[in-house]
Amino acid sequence: MAEKKVILKIKRQSSPGQPAHWEEFSLRWRPSMNIIICLRDIAENPVTRDGKKTTPVSYDSNCLEEVCGSCAMVINGKVKMACSALVDQLTQPITIEPMTKFPIVRDLAVNRQFMFDSLQRVKAWIPIDGTYSLGEGPRVAPEIQEKGYPLSRCMTCGLCLEVCPQVNSGNNFVGAAIISQVRLFNMHPTGAMHAKERIRALQGEGGIEECANVQNCVQACPKAIPLTESIAEVNREAWKQSLVGWLLG
Ligand code: FES
Repeated sequence: MAEKKVILKIKRQSSPGQPAHWEEFSLRWRPSMNIIICLRDIAENPVTRDGKKTTPVSYDSNCLEEVCGSCAMVINGKVKMACSALVDQLTQPITIEPMTKFPIVRDLAVNRQFMFDSLQRVKAWIPIDGTYSLGEGPRVAPEIQEKGYPLSRCMTCGLCLEVCPQVNSGNNFVGAAIISQVRLFNMHPTGAMHAKERIRALQGEGGIEECANVQNCVQACPKAIPLTESIAEVNREAWKQSLVGWLLG
């Protein structure tokens, strides 16, 4: 009986300025293979389907359990996490491309620095320490914990930016993940100290007003984060803050 194969078509690009091209690979199928296993197989024996020697495919991955957010790529036309994309659930030949909304580094590896800069822009952290002990912080009520936990599952993978038409070369929209982190840190009793600053950071260029309510983000999120709920809530807060600022002159 002929050995079962996995056929992959991968978009390759050796560096940002170089033209992209496709390479096809034929791999030995094993049960429970995911896309990262396929990429590792290619790294072990970088030979194309028609027998030409090539280079291993560059990509990012780390945790291999859909937690770190580094392995996002476009698989069969849909952006997914490669470590949880199972070969048996994908139609062959499986096409793999890098995400399009981030600068390319090489092959499937992209630079998501824009997201980390945006997290910095909105102060997506809770100040817990100073040059001296700040003492115990306030307790987080169970209802806040329950509301915050799903938001804390964000892994900055970039899927929500990839599917958002508002994230494009014409603007600097920070995207749904960042807005949702503002909601998370503003609901924390210690994080609330910087709530106004975070909202203010979203009122400028590339902020929450750029959202066109297309709602692709919530469909694409691999962690099922209620992103549209976050956008609505942060938007309300932004309006309230603007109104109060206007009334107080
Ligand atoms: S390797 Fe960490 S999310 Fe896929």
